Amino acid sequence: MAITFDEKNSKFILDTENTRYAFKLLYGKFPVHLHYGAKKDEDIKNKVISFAPFYEDTGLSYLPDYHMSEYNGFDSGDYRGYSLRVRNGDGNSVTMLRYDSHRIFKGRLELQNLPFADEYANTETLELCLVDDVTKVRVLLYYTVFEQLDVISRYVSVENHGEDTVCIEKCMSLLLDLPECDYDMLSLCGIYKNERSIVRTPLHYGSQGVFSRRGASSHQMNPFMALCKHNATQNSGEVYGFNFVYSGSFSNEVEVDQNGMTRVQIGLGSDNFSWQLKAGESFVSPEAVMTFSENGIGGMSRNFHRFVRRCILPPEPFENRPVVLNTWEACRFDIDENELMNFARAAKASNIDMVVMDDGWFGARNNDMAGLGDWYVNTDKFADGLGAFVDKIKSYNIKFGIWIEPEMVNPDSELYRKHPEWCLCCPSRQPMLSRNQLVLDMGNPDVLGYLKEMFTKTFAGVSIDYFKWDCNRNLSQIGSLCLPPEQQGEAAYRYMLGVYELFRWFREQYPDAMIENCSGGGGRYDLGMMKYSTMIWTSDNTTPQNRIRIQYGSMLGYPSTVMSCHVSRHELCEDPNELRYRWHVAMGGALGYELHLPNATQTVRDTIKEQIAVYRRYESLIFAGDYHTILNPFETNYSAYYYVDDKKERILLSFLQQNPERKTALRLPIEVAEKNAVYVDEINGSKYTGKQLMKGILVKTENSTNYSKMWCFVKQK
Ligand code: DGJ
Repeated sequence: MAITFDEKNSKFILDTENTRYAFKLLYGKFPVHLHYGAKKDEDIKNKVISFAPFYEDTGLSYLPDYHMSEYNGFDSGDYRGYSLRVRNGDGNSVTMLRYDSHRIFKGRLELQNLPFADEYANTETLELCLVDDVTKVRVLLYYTVFEQLDVISRYVSVENHGEDTVCIEKCMSLLLDLPECDYDMLSLCGIYKNERSIVRTPLHYGSQGVFSRRGASSHQMNPFMALCKHNATQNSGEVYGFNFVYSGSFSNEVEVDQNGMTRVQIGLGSDNFSWQLKAGESFVSPEAVMTFSENGIGGMSRNFHRFVRRCILPPEPFENRPVVLNTWEACRFDIDENELMNFARAAKASNIDMVVMDDGWFGARNNDMAGLGDWYVNTDKFADGLGAFVDKIKSYNIKFGIWIEPEMVNPDSELYRKHPEWCLCCPSRQPMLSRNQLVLDMGNPDVLGYLKEMFTKTFAGVSIDYFKWDCNRNLSQIGSLCLPPEQQGEAAYRYMLGVYELFRWFREQYPDAMIENCSGGGGRYDLGMMKYSTMIWTSDNTTPQNRIRIQYGSMLGYPSTVMSCHVSRHELCEDPNELRYRWHVAMGGALGYELHLPNATQTVRDTIKEQIAVYRRYESLIFAGDYHTILNPFETNYSAYYYVDDKKERILLSFLQQNPERKTALRLPIEVAEKNAVYVDEINGSKYTGKQLMKGILVKTENSTNYSKMWCFVKQK
């Protein structure tokens, strides 16, 4: 049993293979958190007390402001960050929750309309029902234990059992109190074209955290977050990891209180969110996930990698992940049937599996000023229509992918001229443009209806293997013309629900196709998008020196399987060293190409063919192996990491140097090697003992802009 209730001590224990989560009910009504971490038993610890409100019937033995909590309401005597704030019929927002009942069951419940983690092996769930006696609002806390993966997920459902309509003003999905504050916070921060830089800062007294108010999980601050002990390294020390299965605005709040305790909350936050809950209705929050590892930052990352691969990502549609040739960087909007056929021929000759036709194929889309929203093929570019053109592509026996950006519209489009009221906007305010586009109100069923109809028509009978779903601006003036004034606070959340509904529709309508998610590169690199997309375009920045860091940062919370990595810049790739270096960087994830292959020299085309053959040899290791890092490119001039299979028989090691430097010798220790085993490096031809690998492979840095080296150690039987 992963979840047990010890009735005698009113104690709930949630065990995974290597972790324990525990809380108890004080006076049978107040859930007090006890412990999350390695498997041990903890009880309530006394803290210094002053000025604390208490209930007459419990005295100082239960103090909401001092005890660790499971979930707390606004103005409930706990002055730390609150999880739930419900404005009731009286106009105040006091929210006081007490235990009512619970149940433990096998498996999990589905979250309607939202992405959520799939069950894995013996998943179990605790449903803890809390109630506010005055408003009759019931709050169901869900704890789903993924026992074999060392992950616990949390979300809440708020039910209105009263007579008045209430308004949810804040609803967090996860609250975790930790008894200490000697942690560093690890977050993934950045900007467009430089996403997910690792930032490590010690916690300080008061509030800190990461958030997005952009209506997207954002390039700027990713919803992944970790807390590690000050002394934690890549390979040792205690680390907690958190993430949110959601793609819109969020708020991950961390607060260190007067007693040196740390409160972590993951959820929607209160910016741009409120929800009217009528009598009899319920509201379900998105799911948040957490993990713990004693094996350092790497241990935490590997926990999340396994979890995302097994419980979040959709099934792989093809036997092998297709290597794609994308038109965007080579052609921009300048595409037509002729050009695409050239791409298809060149792709086939280099053993590339798929041509992806990026932006520019529909409506009056000759640049980014017009055409978005008009989802029919441009017959000036594809005279016989989409179906006939795709058939011609397929005659080369390769796959075909197509670019879409369903959520957006150019004011210069037929759609906007017909339906200006379908955009997110606030009456009387001028909507703001970004990349010459406005955002459709995806919470409006008519908008979804239109999109489904257009795509059904345009893609009828067209054999599409892959959609690249883009989203090229953040939300602003988030109002909906189909909601009454008192519900305007719901527009951003309803937008996301609409986006998810369209994703689900695509998956049902085109079950054999895969979706690559993209938001100007990695602007929605999150677990919500990963639920529907096999991979995500990691960044619009394909400069390898920058990609080394972006990919290393992404791997902190997400597996290589989702990381779409392209070799780009045709003019630079004529240099064999540069082509090799770019390929090696792109071998960190799902390899693809984004250069003008038809114009490339025969040498480049032949080299690409060889690169793909090597990639095929190692892709199972890259996608399913355990990932270990040795050198951090945010702290050194290098990135060094390896993938190792389950049985520890094959180890693929990469060393990537960012900038030229004088020759220096470095050691790259392979901790997972078996001391007495013998390994052959099948790439460079040498033999090593496990002991030698553990001490470290010697590598010499180079005075070059594109130096890298790869080894594959195979254990001898
Ligand atoms: C932004 C994406 O990140 C690019 O790869 C490309 O698809 C363009 N949008 C097309 O407009």
